[in-house]
Amino acid sequence: MSTKPTYILAIESSCDDTAAAVLADNKVLSNVVARQEIHEEYGGVVPELASRAHQQNIVPVVDIALKKAGITKEELQGIAFTQGPGLMGSLLVGGSFAKSLALALDIPLIAVNHMHAHILCHFIDESGYDQPTFPFLALTISGGHTQIVQVNSFFDLKVLGETTDDAVGEAFDKSAKILGFPYPGGPLIDKYAKEGNPKAYPFTKPKVEGLNFSFSGLKTQFLYFIQKQVAENPNFIEENKADICASIQHTIIKILMDKLKLAVELTGITQIAIGGGVSANSGIRATLKEAEQKYKWKTYIPKFEYTTDNAAMIGIVGYYRYRESLFADSSVVSKARIEF
Ligand code: KG4
Ligand code: ZN
Repeated sequence: MSTKPTYILAIESSCDDTAAAVLADNKVLSNVVARQEIHEEYGGVVPELASRAHQQNIVPVVDIALKKAGITKEELQGIAFTQGPGLMGSLLVGGSFAKSLALALDIPLIAVNHMHAHILCHFIDESGYDQPTFPFLALTISGGHTQIVQVNSFFDLKVLGETTDDAVGEAFDKSAKILGFPYPGGPLIDKYAKEGNPKAYPFTKPKVEGLNFSFSGLKTQFLYFIQKQVAENPNFIEENKADICASIQHTIIKILMDKLKLAVELTGITQIAIGGGVSANSGIRATLKEAEQKYKWKTYIPKFEYTTDNAAMIGIVGYYRYRESLFADSSVVSKARIEF
């Protein structure tokens, strides 16, 4: 006799994407993301515009997610939402909406840490994708975070190192901005890097103790380099776009890989899972696959739609918290910063 699955609606609104997903246990039935293009013209996310767009988008996005899943809201057993970290105004929209809906439907509310979700997205049941076994190391690389986390179980996570200034996604986006690319420029650097020589322009790596990262020095170094070259040749960027992108991407990947190697050395753990928007980067994906052969690691790279911000990853944490009855009460608040 088959038992009925647990249906969970998940809502993600930590930054500039309004997202909703419906999961049946650990399977994704729908995963809807409304991207906010408004920020492109400002060269970065404008928090007030993001909150306003979330307010406009949240009802239709949830509606579409339920319709795509073929589920009515009365069939839901829990509502998971991103509690933090993120932009306060953005978090409040998703959090208040989730709270109200859970109250109206009289079902449990589940508060989810966005960074936890970027890690547990590997446990979404997808054919063709292996799931890591515990313990493993997670490298979470996004526009807001850069962390190496030791994951001992679904709920026992320890941050081993993190950025002391900019996140790796910011390093990509700020470099792209210096080159005159629209926001977010990370994917464009990735695109042009494919045609370029990664050794064309050497940049120095920052010296940071242990497993922490720093990217702000690289950004300054890159800015001065471009300014100097453009002063000599105004067409420098246009004429060397591919080589410039390949070189900065190569340096960023080297910084990440050196710290990962150190983390493996220090912990003895050779299973590596990546997550976060920057794990969509084709150079990082290829380098990890090479490392798998070279160092005998086992690497896990999520399906593309689970790398950048999405609600399916919030839903999978929701599912594991639901199984353990780890519910939030109605006094739960959004948090711009949050620990595991
Ligand atoms: O996880 P995410 O969607 O949002 C945050 O939680 O920050 O990550 C967004 C970041 C942006 O900085 C974006 O430029 C970067 O991920 N990104 C990439 C690529 N795709 C997205 N960076 C480099 N190469 C890519 N292909
Ligand atoms: Zn994210």
